[in-house]
Amino acid sequence: MRTQVLIVGAGPSGLLLGQLLHRAGIDTLILERQSGEHVLTRIRAGVLEPGTAELMDEAGVGARLRAEGLVHDGFALAIDGVRHRIDLRALTGGRSVLVYGQTEVTRDLMSARAEAGLPTLYDAAEVRIADFDTERPHAHCVVNGAAIRIDADFIAGCDGFHGVCRASVPADALRLFEKVYPFGWLGLLSDTPPVSDELIYGRHPRGFTLCSMRSPTRSRYYLQVPLTERVQHWSDDRFWEELRRRLDPEAADRLVTGPSLEKSIAPLRSFVAEPMRFGRLFLAGDAAHIVPPTGAKGLNLAASDVRYLSQALIEHYRERSQAGIDHYSSRCLSRVWKAERFSWWLTSLMHNVDQEPAFQARLQQAELDYVLGSEAALRVLAENYVGLPV
Ligand code: FAD
Ligand code: DHB
Repeated sequence: MRTQVLIVGAGPSGLLLGQLLHRAGIDTLILERQSGEHVLTRIRAGVLEPGTAELMDEAGVGARLRAEGLVHDGFALAIDGVRHRIDLRALTGGRSVLVYGQTEVTRDLMSARAEAGLPTLYDAAEVRIADFDTERPHAHCVVNGAAIRIDADFIAGCDGFHGVCRASVPADALRLFEKVYPFGWLGLLSDTPPVSDELIYGRHPRGFTLCSMRSPTRSRYYLQVPLTERVQHWSDDRFWEELRRRLDPEAADRLVTGPSLEKSIAPLRSFVAEPMRFGRLFLAGDAAHIVPPTGAKGLNLAASDVRYLSQALIEHYRERSQAGIDHYSSRCLSRVWKAERFSWWLTSLMHNVDQEPAFQARLQQAELDYVLGSEAALRVLAENYVGLPV
């Protein structure tokens, strides 16, 4: 088989790249290790920056998110039981975010790809990529028991943190930066009305909480838990009881509980691999970087990588220009590191840092007091939350 751009991974990065390239008349083939059904049932991010929503529009898949996504003009920081509203619209000159689940982003992209009749090989086993440092990159995999070879002009590694693409780059050609946090997030999804119309990021002596949502009738909640916790030890009742203890009094009063639709623990990590291009292989999204979820940046960074990559490839095919390709890694990394900084900062500010020295805890308190009392600091927070320019 042969294609112009071989995309490894049918998560949001791979599917969005495929759609943008298709609209520019460039052929793609996507290889995905899992089934389509499996990809659609992974519950992950929920907040889209306006720039991500605009890119979905440009890809021709923005109609449903514009109709069904919830526009959020602000969110709250709840500090030890007191809620402070961050007015995103007022602080950023009129910008707001959209609450629209990653599963829905993926579903819209998958439907558009299927409608356009574009090829995706799901359940692709033993995916390997080769010769991406030459003019003739290619990949091998096994689908339905048959071994397949795919030749391409370029390979886009959109295969997430545990994918094969980054792992195929020689170790001495990569520089890795990593911070692993001593806690994770236990998430629960339920068909219950959210406690508030806006998201609440809560700091509490028992640990961080996030009250989020997918719709007016579907809630997504998260609790900071030690890394040693196991999801089997968290019955729904235990989750709801712990959440109620950490909420501010009004939210606790409004909490409606119900059976969980999904419950899982995600470890928190900051990670960047540099550079993001090796010859004719590009890394995009979680394949190249991970942020802790506190700033809601993971999916949005994946989208901005894909914006730069699609522009570079379109420029290459239309104008035979190498400029976008040469600048891809540095353009991405400049935005990635700013989002890494913001996500690390908000994580450090809002989580229980009991295990850290008392000095650190006092600094955290001082920083919170400062941020909430300074319009300049609130603007910095809001500007980063709605997303830095692409
Ligand atoms: P992925 O979504 O990981 O997609 C990669 C795809 O590649 C997958 O479909 C995978 O099956 C496929 N793949 C992997 N290996 C291979 C292979 N060898 N061959 C072929 N295909 C392969 N972000 C937030 O903003 N908020 C959140 O609450 C949040 N929660 C998260 C919870 C979890 C458990 C995880 C893992 C991430 C979370 N994120 C969150 C981050 C966000 O979901 C990611 O940033 C986003 O999914 C990145 O998209 P991606 O397409 O780059 O990678
Ligand atoms: C959600 C996840 C986040 O990490 C975040 O910052 C906001 C919302 C969510 O899953 O809804």
